[in-house]
Amino acid sequence: MDITALRDQAIEAIERAKNAKELEEVNKIYLGRKGKLTQLLRSLNAMEAGERRKIGAAANALRDELHETLEKKQELLARLELQEEARQNRIDVTVPGKRLPVGHLHPLTHIQREARRIFESMGFSTVQGNEIESQHYNFDALNFPPDHPARDMQDTFWLKQHRKGERNLLRTHTSPVQVRYMEQHVPPFRIIVPGRVFRNEATDARHETNLYQLEGLMVGKYVSAAHFKGVLEEFYREFFHTPVSIRLRPSFFPFVEPGFEVDMSCVVCKGGGCSTCSQGGWIEMMGAGMVHPNVFKAAGYVPGDWQGFAFGMGLDRLAMMKYKVHDIRLFYGGDFRFLRQF
Ligand code: DAH
Repeated sequence: MDITALRDQAIEAIERAKNAKELEEVNKIYLGRKGKLTQLLRSLNAMEAGERRKIGAAANALRDELHETLEKKQELLARLELQEEARQNRIDVTVPGKRLPVGHLHPLTHIQREARRIFESMGFSTVQGNEIESQHYNFDALNFPPDHPARDMQDTFWLKQHRKGERNLLRTHTSPVQVRYMEQHVPPFRIIVPGRVFRNEATDARHETNLYQLEGLMVGKYVSAAHFKGVLEEFYREFFHTPVSIRLRPSFFPFVEPGFEVDMSCVVCKGGGCSTCSQGGWIEMMGAGMVHPNVFKAAGYVPGDWQGFAFGMGLDRLAMMKYKVHDIRLFYGGDFRFLRQF
């Protein structure tokens, strides 16, 4: 084969090579140990001097040219490979980000925070108590006599008796914090106690074994039921964003005298009567009263020195009114179809 044809063939093969492997193959075919050009160079010895000089020069030049061309092609392929890699790894900054699912507060947490905000704006401090409570604070210090049927008003989760014979319980209300707080503080003061309480009772649309209350206690020299009514009206007005009427009905709780049941005019029908208020126009919202002298005594106060009001409202009930939820169990069921609405 003449050298020009060999050259054309080799150059074309180099051009055709699509990757390093194919290029290496071309290199072998022409410049390898048994390569076409190698063989030609080897055959030079057998030629006569004139021809050898002529062909030898051309063959050597071709070898140099092929080396150079191969090298260039190798560089080109390497560059292309890098570009391809970069293309594949390219980050498209215009692609919209992945949305991470973000949770939100539970409706009862919203209610509790909103209630706190309003009471704190009226100068109340928020105080915490224990969920595991002693009989003393849950009942005795609150003037429940040992054998008084009032104790049966609360169905209690009792804990196992510990060594000293005291039997603890899961607090049935937030009222024990009244005495715990008064033992440590001198009036005047106003506090609220939001927290979880427990009742050992069958559940239905209005009753759960676990619920949330918000206790209030305001004690001073001349704190009256009128103050209580004013504070409460302000609270409800702010909470429901509409003026509401309050009605106090006489009721009995051992730790207050007098005791009241507090009704609020129905925010759904504005008192006209609807299914939410069982057509009555009023909704029962909480227990309250003027702190009983025996409770002051249990806390170490001289009863005649102070007077105050106390109240305990159910936060679940408040949430049900605000969000118009008809079944308390929805708050604890963990059903996202319900929770996502808040
Ligand atoms: N602790 C009572 C309950 O859980 C509610 C209550 C009634 C709290 C009257 C009070 C109060 O502070 O004065 O049923």
